[in-house]
Amino acid sequence: MNCCTETPTELPEKLKIGIRGVDDDHWILLSLVREVQEAVAHGHGKEVTHKALDTLVAYVRVHFNREERILRHHQFPDLAAHKAAHDSFARQTMEYFVDVQGGVTDVSQDMLAYLKKWIVEHIMGMDQEYGEYLRERGVR
Ligand SMILES: [Fe+2]
Ligand SMILES: [Fe+2]
Repeated sequence: MNCCTETPTELPEKLKIGIRGVDDDHWILLSLVREVQEAVAHGHGKEVTHKALDTLVAYVRVHFNREERILRHHQFPDLAAHKAAHDSFARQTMEYFVDVQGGVTDVSQDMLAYLKKWIVEHIMGMDQEYGEYLRERGVR
């Protein structure tokens, strides 16, 4: 498992959408995923791992709410589709967390890789789209 050999120190250029608060949030999200990955890889106990996952799941919601507020404020036309994608992922992560808490499943590197992949692909797809829309309107 080489999840932790390279620790990036900032959000990779290809993931930046050019809006400061959002880029900061995306960096925090990916850092929180890495913290859970590291907790699992280093064999930290359930308490540490579950707490790290809890923090990640909570921040997913914080970020989605923030993003949706910005999009609503600037009347982004595809807000409904964007929000639907957020809701679906937030539901999945919450269900996963509930299963972990209930002992139905363990925190696995596979699941964490899936969460990370979703976040990265969402940033590079839907988030970049609204980034362009907002930048055209002078938002930074
Ligand atoms: Fe985002
Ligand atoms: Fe988003």
